[in-house]
Amino acid sequence: MPLVEKNLTNMNQEIKNIFPSDINQIQEWLKSGDVRVCVVGIGRIGLPTALSFAHAGLPTIGIDINANLVHMVNSGNYPLKDEPGFDKIFEEVIKNKKLKATTEISEAVPQCNLILLSLPTPMDKNNVPDYSAIVSVGKSLSSLIRKGSIVVVESTIEPGFVENELTSILEGSDKRLKAGQDFSIATCPETANPGEILSDFKKLPRLVGGINERTAKIVSKIYGHVFGVEIIEMPDCKTANAAKLTANVFRDINIAFINELAILFENLGIDILKVLEACDKKYNFETHYPGAGVGGPCLPVNSYQILNSARGMENNGMLRIIRAARETNESMPYHVVELLADALNDIGKSVKDSTITLLGISYKPNVKDIQLAPAEAIIKRLDQLQAKIKIYDPYFKDSTVFSHKTETNLDDALTNSDAVVIVTAHNEFRTIEPSLFVAKMKIPVVIDSRGIINSHAAKKAGLVFRGIGRGGV
Ligand SMILES: NC(=O)c1ccc[n+]([C@@H]2O[C@H](COP(=O)([O-])OP(=O)(O)OC[C@H]3O[C@@H](n4cnc5c(N)ncnc54)[C@H](O)[C@@H]3O)[C@@H](O)[C@H]2O)c1
Repeated sequence: MPLVEKNLTNMNQEIKNIFPSDINQIQEWLKSGDVRVCVVGIGRIGLPTALSFAHAGLPTIGIDINANLVHMVNSGNYPLKDEPGFDKIFEEVIKNKKLKATTEISEAVPQCNLILLSLPTPMDKNNVPDYSAIVSVGKSLSSLIRKGSIVVVESTIEPGFVENELTSILEGSDKRLKAGQDFSIATCPETANPGEILSDFKKLPRLVGGINERTAKIVSKIYGHVFGVEIIEMPDCKTANAAKLTANVFRDINIAFINELAILFENLGIDILKVLEACDKKYNFETHYPGAGVGGPCLPVNSYQILNSARGMENNGMLRIIRAARETNESMPYHVVELLADALNDIGKSVKDSTITLLGISYKPNVKDIQLAPAEAIIKRLDQLQAKIKIYDPYFKDSTVFSHKTETNLDDALTNSDAVVIVTAHNEFRTIEPSLFVAKMKIPVVIDSRGIINSHAAKKAGLVFRGIGRGGV
């Protein structure tokens, strides 16, 4: 049953045309609350964004197809428990009625003049980017947006998607409104990190590109007002999206480079953490760490988005390094299982029938998020090898994840286990003393894929220890 929030805004109030407008008018309307905002998609990024616009005094409506989420928001139940700082803002804006949520896009959009899209842009099982949520919402918007509105795409999209696809989708087949003339389109790709969104919102510059210069200027003023950070005006939408992807693909590639060195150093008896500590002293080195793989809704997808944007070009636009980086990072879960098999082999055991405890399944520390998490590939491989699997993650207690039941506490997870694999460096795991493994486990085999265990302490406690890139420890 759709959730319709009636009286989302004061229906009698005139809704201003914010495009085209002059910059002085926008400043006034920002102060008077005449910039009225819809955020379509109020998930990990969209809800904090909606909260920020509402907190800046702009009446804001969150639109989502997830009726439970909409209900939670409207009943004052803050959904993003692992996103510190926003809970207080949430309470305030819900109390002041600056933010409401609805499942009904057709009710909400005509009452707004600024429409932000914070919709998912995942990829399919063949690693092809999937923009179907934006396309489907775009089709609805074509008959709903008012003259004088601006649509801002916050989702991560390929360079050229706005220019080549979204513009004509929003104009609709009847061309009721012409983009750049009657309404406009901009991009402001989100670059915040899950778990740190509030602090990122307060410090990271925002990249704004528009389908024309005036749009970029208006949207820059709006974002400057809401976030109070540096606004970088980009020449167009595609350049803004290219910058977002470049920053993330840079990380994917560098992590792959360090992962390759890590495997080499294991064979050469060198501890990569010592190498990275030394390299970090050099002013132009940027430290990246090896690990069980690169997951989440951003880095892996962003690499495939760049690869996809070169489809049809000669040699697929070259892009050999990105492809190789993906291959390396996607192979890391299997390397973790090889380290495990090797350590068990040292004490005369095999993975088959051993009880293996995975610590952490989130794709990154201290967030509740398993999208494209390397843990999934590790679990699949261990299932194939007929291991008995136990899982403990403080964000997924006593539930079922990747077809396995999870434990409720660390003690139960370690008790009678043959081996532990640290997959995610959640804070709770950083403080574990190696002696705890010895006390609780049947055999203290520990595989540290995130470099959080001190090798001296591990040796002193008598662990059978392996870590990615931890040769010679
Ligand atoms: N999560 C991150 O780390 C992060 C960081 C930067 C950028 N991004 C980008 O931001 C965008 C959003 O990502 P997210 O992590 O917030 O995703 P999310 O899955 O947490 O949230 C997306 C929301 O959109 C809703 N939705 C899906 N289809 C819809 C539709 N047709 N109509 C209305 N609502 C719909 C979903 O129910 C969900 O609540 C993506 O492009 C992502 O790449 C994400």
